[in-house]
Amino acid sequence: MRNEINRLVVESHSRKVEKMSLSPKKVSESCVESTYMVLPEHTNALGSIFGGTIMSWVDITASIVAFRHCRSLVVTASMDEMSFLHPVKLGDLVTVKASLNYTSKHSMELGVKVIAENPVTAKRTHTSSAYLTFVSLDGNGKAQPVPPVMAESDDEKRRYEEGKIRYEIRKKKRK
Ligand SMILES: CC(C)(COP(=O)(O)OP(=O)(O)OC[C@H]1O[C@@H](n2cnc3c(N)ncnc32)[C@H](O)[C@@H]1OP(=O)(O)O)[C@@H](O)C(=O)NCCC(=O)NCCS
Repeated sequence: MRNEINRLVVESHSRKVEKMSLSPKKVSESCVESTYMVLPEHTNALGSIFGGTIMSWVDITASIVAFRHCRSLVVTASMDEMSFLHPVKLGDLVTVKASLNYTSKHSMELGVKVIAENPVTAKRTHTSSAYLTFVSLDGNGKAQPVPPVMAESDDEKRRYEEGKIRYEIRKKKRK
């Protein structure tokens, strides 16, 4: 039953792939900000969130950006290193902000910032950042071209240039 549902989902996504547009798209067309609450099932014995839970929220939020930009199937190809700078406690709010930095032929780099917020004091703390690469896939699971991103503001242009450098470094490391 589950396999049948998966097959139908992939089929319906593949149909959209045929209509995929390669026109350039603005960063603002795909950026995402998601807020979660840290519940008991997210925490360890010290009452702090598991790092893996934050990584999962980062991956999900980034994938929404990639889906919105490509309007095709997308997969996570890599996540660069991620540090956890401050403990995030039970009851905190966690906001994950993700946007597109750079696009190359078949892949795109997204930047993600994680901010913890004490819901009572409103104190906000930047706890993690990460860069993820997503690849757009066609209906046969093969990498396909992604629409170029339009970097408009000064910040977007800086992130684009920095993303391009990181893309080249990653490519060299894989050889
Ligand atoms: C990512 C994946 C599609 C790449 O497939 P591939 O056959 O190696 O593809 P190619 O070598 O043709 O590369 C396609 C694009 O992926 C990029 N890419 C491949 N491996 C990568 C990696 N480890 N990190 C970042 N980018 C990567 C390439 O740079 C290329 O993009 P470009 O044309 O913009 O440079 C494939 O490895 C895969 O399906 N991995 C599993 C993804 C997945 O299931 N993720 C969910 C978590 S398990």
